Amino acid sequence: MAEPTLQEVAVSLSAQPYSIFIGSDWWSGVGDKIRQCLPDMTHAVLVYDSEVRSSWAEPLGEQLRGGGVRVDAAEVLSGESSKSVQRLEQLWEQMRVDRADRHSVVIAVGGGVVGDLAGFAAATFNRGIRLVQVPTTLLSQVDSSVGGKTGINLPDAKNIVGAFWQPSLVAIDTATLTTLPPRIFHSGLAEVAKYGVIADEAFFAWLEQNAEPLAAAEPAAVRHAVAVSCQTKAAVVAEDERETSGRRAILNYGHTFGHAIEATAGYWSLLHGEAVAIGMQMAAHLAQMLGRVDNAFIARQHDLLTRLQLPVHWPDADPAAMLETMRSDKKVAHGKLRFVLPTRLGHVELVGDIDPALIVAAIEKCCDQ
Ligand code: GLY
Repeated sequence: MAEPTLQEVAVSLSAQPYSIFIGSDWWSGVGDKIRQCLPDMTHAVLVYDSEVRSSWAEPLGEQLRGGGVRVDAAEVLSGESSKSVQRLEQLWEQMRVDRADRHSVVIAVGGGVVGDLAGFAAATFNRGIRLVQVPTTLLSQVDSSVGGKTGINLPDAKNIVGAFWQPSLVAIDTATLTTLPPRIFHSGLAEVAKYGVIADEAFFAWLEQNAEPLAAAEPAAVRHAVAVSCQTKAAVVAEDERETSGRRAILNYGHTFGHAIEATAGYWSLLHGEAVAIGMQMAAHLAQMLGRVDNAFIARQHDLLTRLQLPVHWPDADPAAMLETMRSDKKVAHGKLRFVLPTRLGHVELVGDIDPALIVAAIEKCCDQ
């Protein structure tokens, strides 16, 4: 097969640099790319979301087998409940029975749930074996597959147990997005818009110019949006791999509000990206109240998110319950709430010690229709 046209984004970590390969309609070349990057791979544990079994996972398994790799498959039921201790234990046990060893590679095919679960299994089995991320949702292509965050949930706490475990490569075929339900696709656009706000004003302007083709999943627009998002995420991760300096925390723009929305709404009423979009709007209002941005900033972000088919209001918000949830967030430093807040398009800062009354007021700004 002819070499596919791919864009390569480097994640420049000193201990383990790796590449993100981005293209569209190159699924038939993904297996070869993985074998090319990991020539000593003899065994693959293909962990995949049940929704992508026939469309993406089985064809990839066949490619790898055709290249002489022993392949074992583990199907994971779609949904957050699969990020559990029980499912992880089953995966470890299957890997033991399948004789996974240091030449084995875990290949995660699916969205954030599979990437996080399979990634944590790779981080922990045999004290750590190699991992390849093959994300098939927009959210996982632009965020969760890059940067090495892996983990599972406990019944009352999302992502509370996990490890930083970087993949050896990330292979992205944006054609996988064509099989997603539109709501799931649009939800991923919240993280794309986030990159414009936190780090790249020119990209924000590009998004404004291309919102409709992007929301309609026009291939060239999607490919560009994914590539720029991955570049920004890679740059931030390279500066602060383990989220210790505060730099990586900027990726959480809209997420403190968003997690509180998800937790108080019940995890299935809003998708993660939808909660993040509303959270970004709450954060913008909070920044405006603190004199950091003007009304024009709020209006531009509001318009872009709306044109990307994302919600910016949540009439059911319970500000007191959200505040309580924020205080128990694992990212709260020494009991002090900190927010990622914009000062202009393309720049955000971590801000602490905010009057809770302002936080409530910012939530209330997004309660009306
Ligand atoms: N999703 C935020 C991060 O990877 O740090």
